[in-house]
Amino acid sequence: ELGPYRHFMQKEIHEQPRAIADTIEAVIDNGAFAPELFGADAAEVLRDIEGVQILACGTSYYAGLTARYWIEAIAGLPCSVEIASEYRYRTAVANPKHLVVTISQSGETLDTMEALKYARSLGHDRTLSICNVPESAIPRASRLVYYTRAGAEIGVASTKAFTTQLVALFTLTATLAKLHGRLDATQEAEHLDALRHLPGSVQHALNLEPQVTGWAERFAPKDNALFLGRGVHYPIALEGALKLKEISYIHAEAYPAGELKHGPLALVDEAMPVVVIAPNDRLLEKVKSNMQEVRARGGELFVFTDEDSHFGPSDGVHVIRAPRHVGVLSPIVHTIPVQLLAYHVALARGTDVDKPRNLAKSVTVE
Ligand code: M6R
Repeated sequence: ELGPYRHFMQKEIHEQPRAIADTIEAVIDNGAFAPELFGADAAEVLRDIEGVQILACGTSYYAGLTARYWIEAIAGLPCSVEIASEYRYRTAVANPKHLVVTISQSGETLDTMEALKYARSLGHDRTLSICNVPESAIPRASRLVYYTRAGAEIGVASTKAFTTQLVALFTLTATLAKLHGRLDATQEAEHLDALRHLPGSVQHALNLEPQVTGWAERFAPKDNALFLGRGVHYPIALEGALKLKEISYIHAEAYPAGELKHGPLALVDEAMPVVVIAPNDRLLEKVKSNMQEVRARGGELFVFTDEDSHFGPSDGVHVIRAPRHVGVLSPIVHTIPVQLLAYHVALARGTDVDKPRNLAKSVTVE
């Protein structure tokens, strides 16, 4: 069942080009973003929504955080993202014109299910679930559904579920943008084209594995690591830190790079590896000055960037380049190297990669 791979996690990381291609197949075949992709009465549910409330746990929550950047920038709708276990126990103000989106690989996470029930009890009738397991509890309790087609995910650490959630959320964003008159035919064609090319770009990122393996030995003896990103890549830093802590048991924190001076810089010294997600987007110059702040305190930098960013390795600065910057879908491509890093560091530390201590694949209890 594992084929040439040592662990399910490694296999599932490598399945991502196919998992993404399968998940977007319906959109590509349709040749357009259409509400019907989310259910028969989706046009009616989505047309006049005034905002989006996303609820999820763990990695699925980070998919939601990424989507917020897209939904506000592309669809022009206000979007909040909240951890399901927090939302369900606070007194929230509901707006029935907001769409409640739950994201869950398993479709059985108790807190996400309870958060959905709570939202419904507050008067939220427009509900959509993004889920990988057909007919599981959460999609059954939702009016609209988009199934990711990642296939069974065995490793406790979520990998292909995350990147397929992201393409589903991007599809939702583009569909909402179109319904709300914010996507013309040219932009729609560009987004479809970007999705069509995504499996290839993800494959190129997977080809970086030997370079990432080269970093793993340096991480293996560390006790702590810091992950930095800005904008839409900040949630990818969060996901990278979660992956590393889950399977290698190295304490890892992620921060928006602009927050360094507000506290975490105090932790940086020669012993602290700092992973930076630094693609060539409009925030790159800001990220570069954050990297200088780290170097000035002796922190060792491990930078994931892309080909057109024009900066290379130097003393204490290691650089791995993904291929050409892929624009709006860049966070999906930049997820691959952080997954590979966590996997190879765990391998070097000899932990139980597929079944990390204290964790279960599906969290059906509080
Ligand atoms: O099945 P779900 O997507 O609802 O699960 C949510 C989290 O339990 C899950 O993403 C967890 O954080 C993973 N172990 C992360 O790798």
